[in-house]
Amino acid sequence: MAQIDHIKDIARYGLENDREKLLNSLNEFIEYYRGTRKVNLALQLQSLVKESNRSSGYLTKVGSDHYFSRQNEKEVSDLFIDKLKSDYRLENLVVSSEVKNELIHFIKENNSVELLQKFDLPVSNKLLLHGPSGCGKTLASYVIAGEINKQMYVVNLGAIVSSKLGETSKNLAKVFRKASQEESIIFIDEFDSIGKIRDYNQDHGEMKRVVNTILQLFDYLPQSSIVIAATNQENMLDDALLRRFDVNLEFSLPNKVQIEELILLTLKKGNFKSPSKTILSRIIKKCEGLSYYSIQKTLINTIKRSLFEQLDSKKIVQKINVSIWSNLIELEKKALKK
Ligand SMILES: Nc1ncnc2c1ncn2[C@@H]1O[C@H](COP(=O)(O)OP(=O)(O)OP(=O)(O)O)[C@@H](O)[C@H]1O
Ligand SMILES: [Mg+2]
Repeated sequence: MAQIDHIKDIARYGLENDREKLLNSLNEFIEYYRGTRKVNLALQLQSLVKESNRSSGYLTKVGSDHYFSRQNEKEVSDLFIDKLKSDYRLENLVVSSEVKNELIHFIKENNSVELLQKFDLPVSNKLLLHGPSGCGKTLASYVIAGEINKQMYVVNLGAIVSSKLGETSKNLAKVFRKASQEESIIFIDEFDSIGKIRDYNQDHGEMKRVVNTILQLFDYLPQSSIVIAATNQENMLDDALLRRFDVNLEFSLPNKVQIEELILLTLKKGNFKSPSKTILSRIIKKCEGLSYYSIQKTLINTIKRSLFEQLDSKKIVQKINVSIWSNLIELEKKALKK
């Protein structure tokens, strides 16, 4: 479509007061400018739309203002599992140096929004974390919330994804509006559940609508808010959605170095002594193939059992029983194979 046609559409829908179509046309126009060299104009238009969304709230009011806002609060709060402040820090997370570097950059950018805006540079504020279960995706989101010192809304995708046509998109819009107003972090765990809509509705139009809604919400996300999505089924995600994330990080099973780091970190928390180097490297070898979560679980259970073993002795030593640990690792491996 040529520039003149975009402008005509915008004028028509503006005059007809058709907000939805107007927004769609504006989006298309912004996309058009993104493809040209006038990226700045696209950004300016985007921020105009964002401001307007924020101030209008685009809801029809029924009843008194007070009732309306209480009702609205409740509806929105059902869509969140949690609203929290975190005091986790980067040192609580064990990851490869590549992932750590990316996280450091992400944190730095989001702690320097004003500086970037001064130079008309967009902030990378949409992050996708993917990889197997128990490898730190949720933990990483807490670390980011702690390092950026922002409030985090944990989205309840189970409550958001609805079998009712059009409802999922509406719920998503509510969530984003709330978090944007408060300049906070939206954490969407199990992001692949969006794919469930495919099963709920035979109608593929609904899936398309939800994906389009997310794309729009992402595009108009204020620079001072952040979206973090996590999934262990990255392949379930629509390509257009995947492309919209500024940063895409893979959280994998730990290698030997990371297993050792996790063990030492966990022992340090309770001031427990580390086993000798040879024993430690034997244990590390046994742990290969397990997730961070499983390894930490076997170690914490070992610590507890080692303490219980000493209940009758006069002085408790902060030392772990390695044979208990070896057994627990074997049990964990067996349980996971089932
Ligand atoms: N990379 C890591 N560094 C340190 N601790 C970790 C790491 N990964 C997992 N853990 C430990 O395991 C717990 C569970 O991990 P987490 O919930 O972050 O995994 P996840 O990748 O989100 O898994 P899921 O896909 O099942 O949601 C963490 O709270 C932490 O105690
Ligand atoms: Mg998780």
